[in-house]
Amino acid sequence: MKILYTFIPCVLFVLCSCTPERNKDRSSVDARIDSLISIMTLDEKVGQLTLYTSDLDVTGAHIRKGYLDDLKAGKVGAIFNAIGADYTRKLQQISVDETRLGIPLLFGYDVVHGYKTIFPIPLGETASWDLTAMELSARISAEEASSVGLHWTFAPMVDVSRDPRWGRIMEGAGEDTYLGTQAAIARVKGFQGDDLAASNTVLACVKHFAAYGAAQAGRDYNTVDISERSLREDYLPPFKAAIDAGVGSIMTSFNEYDGVPATGNRFLLTDILQKEWGFTGFVVTDYTSIMEMVQHGIAADTLSATRLSFDAGVDMDMQSGFFEDKLGILVKEKVVSEESINNAVRKVLKKKYALGLFEDPYRYSNAAREKETLMKPEFLEAARDIARKSIVLLKNNKQTLPLPKSVKRIAVIGPLANSTNDLLGAWSGQGEGKNCISLLAGIQAAGAGTVVYAKGCNINDDSLQYIAESVKVARTADVVVLALGEAAWMSGEAASRANIELPGVQQKLADEIFKTGKPVVVVLMNGRPLAIPDLDKKADAILETWFLGTQAGHAIADVLFGDYNPSGKLPVSFPISVGQVPVYYNQKSTGRPFDATNKYTSKYLDVGNEPLYPFGYGLSYTQFDYGEITLSKHEMATGDTLTVRCVISNVGQMDGKEVVQLYVRDLVGSVTRPVKELIGFQKIMIKAGESKELTFEITAGDLSFYRLDMTYGAEPGNFQVFVGGNSRDTKASAFSLK
Ligand code: NOJ
Repeated sequence: MKILYTFIPCVLFVLCSCTPERNKDRSSVDARIDSLISIMTLDEKVGQLTLYTSDLDVTGAHIRKGYLDDLKAGKVGAIFNAIGADYTRKLQQISVDETRLGIPLLFGYDVVHGYKTIFPIPLGETASWDLTAMELSARISAEEASSVGLHWTFAPMVDVSRDPRWGRIMEGAGEDTYLGTQAAIARVKGFQGDDLAASNTVLACVKHFAAYGAAQAGRDYNTVDISERSLREDYLPPFKAAIDAGVGSIMTSFNEYDGVPATGNRFLLTDILQKEWGFTGFVVTDYTSIMEMVQHGIAADTLSATRLSFDAGVDMDMQSGFFEDKLGILVKEKVVSEESINNAVRKVLKKKYALGLFEDPYRYSNAAREKETLMKPEFLEAARDIARKSIVLLKNNKQTLPLPKSVKRIAVIGPLANSTNDLLGAWSGQGEGKNCISLLAGIQAAGAGTVVYAKGCNINDDSLQYIAESVKVARTADVVVLALGEAAWMSGEAASRANIELPGVQQKLADEIFKTGKPVVVVLMNGRPLAIPDLDKKADAILETWFLGTQAGHAIADVLFGDYNPSGKLPVSFPISVGQVPVYYNQKSTGRPFDATNKYTSKYLDVGNEPLYPFGYGLSYTQFDYGEITLSKHEMATGDTLTVRCVISNVGQMDGKEVVQLYVRDLVGSVTRPVKELIGFQKIMIKAGESKELTFEITAGDLSFYRLDMTYGAEPGNFQVFVGGNSRDTKASAFSLK
């Protein structure tokens, strides 16, 4: 039985009686935590810095054998991959009742795009450009996760990535730093809510710090070698924004930065995170990344890996067990001070306190709440709405879409047409295929005409045996809906692809179906941009649906039949060919920008420079017309605000939402600047036949960057400003900053 409760009731009393609601006095919380630390042994302290996976769910290669014995010995402060109100309660009981001090455990899990009700993969959801939707899906995910005993999600993942080969691009917000920053803020707010002590919010963990998305050649875990300028400008802002939004924890990344693995990188974890940004939450490593420092070749043994990571600023060791095994030795050898251990413990205990765990360690492990919370009808409704908002219409020749409900016969063909598991995507928590609406089921439920189905081929093998049958089925139909793409396992962690075309024989299937001459609507399901120039040439319409989650089939059917007018825009460029990668909209000009008439300019011999579909691109069933931009002035001083106005008209037949995007270009700087940079966007509804004037405000802050001397700020000079419905097709004007 715990000592805390029996031998020193006064300490327990002070820790438990001051509920976060009743006592907002930080200094008294600190004093209470300090008094707890003062009675902890070194092993117990290190225990608070130790995180192990349970064997209930597996998200990495190695399980620490005997972690339950460690737990009973008070040597574990946090557990991940333990789920369910009953199971978390059972483990919590061990920690509370069987350890000397009875300090409650923190339960973490990768609740990345839903726990049981699964939302679109984050990349797809970002295509909604709807921050309210992003916040809502995180909010619902927190409701569900907290009802099964979880306190902590390893999300949001905010790694900017310009490389579609990288499987983890599906977990983030795409290629753009500004959009990624807005998404990060929305998601942190959604998970954490206004009050961590509320039993329906969870502690968020922004990851992976830092620059993980810049893995060379898009190969997961690979080396990162980028300039500090790019680190600060392209990769760090979403982390900083998450911290400013109050995120309570941060996870290191597997990669190295500037020759030092992130988990042992003092520049990242101490100089930037703590000294520059003043982060007060705790730093957890990614899975076994302390151990991996030996393989990286930066530490010769366990002891030096432990020292390197702790000295760099890591507070909690996920899964290596190195802190448990070696931190005590380092303290005894006086290489690490006990005071620095106390500091790390303090950060962890503060979060446990903020979550209300000292008040009631079991408040989140409530079987009745779990039962009534998971997959509530309103959660499913929200999942359907967010899913349809995430769909991007890439092509729509001769208004093939929306399909009339009067259509007589629809052939639903393709290896993903009747899939459910795949539609959940990677990192889908406890989502289950049996709860997911397939495309076929969604179309059937829409009740339009006779629906016939053929699989066509498998997702990823060479077998051509089903193609003939599917061609026959296509011939009987008025329209073909062809579901193509990737299996869920083809993106996510350790799921990079060197070839980003359609896997297996899907292109062959598509070519045979196109030959029937029937109108073909391709529904893409995938976790990354795919190179699909042939589909783009031959399909009548293409819908990018990512992996939309539990309600995928209904959401896609809503769009197919025009019950929802698509409004998504790509958060990442789609290359024509993998050879163009990285291809992203905010590139630099180079000294020899492309010029078709001049051989000696920056280009390929066999493919253009432009992507197939640019960042920010997406069609609607209606058409939007952009008027010329007007500016409140053409010269602004540093303290001024410049107003940009643009009238957007819906000149089509249907009401629709448009994502209006604002970009700038700094023409001459002390360092070169991108040809376009997103600095604002608004998603607005415009009724058919109506026009709306939109205003954006620009300040010097929006024009700031890391200058030659690495100070941050704007530089006087000339700028172009662009407004448009994607990063390529824009209206432009100009101004100068004095
Ligand atoms: C490794 C992944 O990189 C990370 O994102 C995840 O949170 C942990 N495993 C825990 O599952």
